[in-house]
Amino acid sequence: MAKKITVSTIRKYKENNEKFSVLTAYDYSTAKYIDEAGVDIILIGDSLAMVALGYETTHSVGVDEMLIFTRAVAKGVEHAMVVTDMPFLSYHTDIASAVKNCGEMIKVGANAVKIEGFSDYILDVIKRLIASGIPVMGHLGFTPQFINMLGGYKIQGKTQEAADELLKQAKQLEKAGVFSVVLEMVPQESAKYITENLSVPTISCGAGKYCDAQVLVSDDVFGKFSDFKPKFARKYGDMKSLILNCAKQFNDDVKLGKFPNENEIF
Ligand code: KIV
Repeated sequence: MAKKITVSTIRKYKENNEKFSVLTAYDYSTAKYIDEAGVDIILIGDSLAMVALGYETTHSVGVDEMLIFTRAVAKGVEHAMVVTDMPFLSYHTDIASAVKNCGEMIKVGANAVKIEGFSDYILDVIKRLIASGIPVMGHLGFTPQFINMLGGYKIQGKTQEAADELLKQAKQLEKAGVFSVVLEMVPQESAKYITENLSVPTISCGAGKYCDAQVLVSDDVFGKFSDFKPKFARKYGDMKSLILNCAKQFNDDVKLGKFPNENEIF
């Protein structure tokens, strides 16, 4: 079995200019297979609000729910680093509750947490988390929890000035101690500029090929979630059809008396 991926593995990837992969997972079996496939980081994204719970936005998911999914994923993973997304309002009100909520994720098996956004307060939260032994992944560019401030699903860092501002924020996150930064919906050239000027790895979520790593929502990759598909996602399979076919065949077999057969009874 390959060695467990840790923050030092991720640091080495950047030093050696080696690309790495990140996929979301929300349940035990899926996490187990993604881990077996050799993916480096498994993220329990708050995207589970939409893809696993059917909510409209990530705002509706809470710490209680993230804990259940984190525990399940962590149980299935041996090799990958397990990172949990901290949900809306779980780290925004005060530092003590931020540390408590993030600490709960570590207690159920996460190896690190992801925190969206940038402000002096967020920098203080990150520093306190790291001082408590909790590694932090940053998240800049389009940050879904701030959608009401950003005015919708908008590409971030489009001009040189905006890319400079993103780089400034990323550098401050780096100084506060994050081990990596997700760049979401940032033009490829801006993401390249940020990646080249940062010593921690950047993880592209629709930010092009020059980032150090790529992240996608696994339900998009597997073709399972079908309510919408982001432009930057690539579908590698068609789980929706697979599930539909299996469920239809089972339904038919039951109704035609073809299930169970002689080998499926006691
Ligand atoms: O919630 C999520 O799944 C994410 C990633 C896609 C970056 O934040």
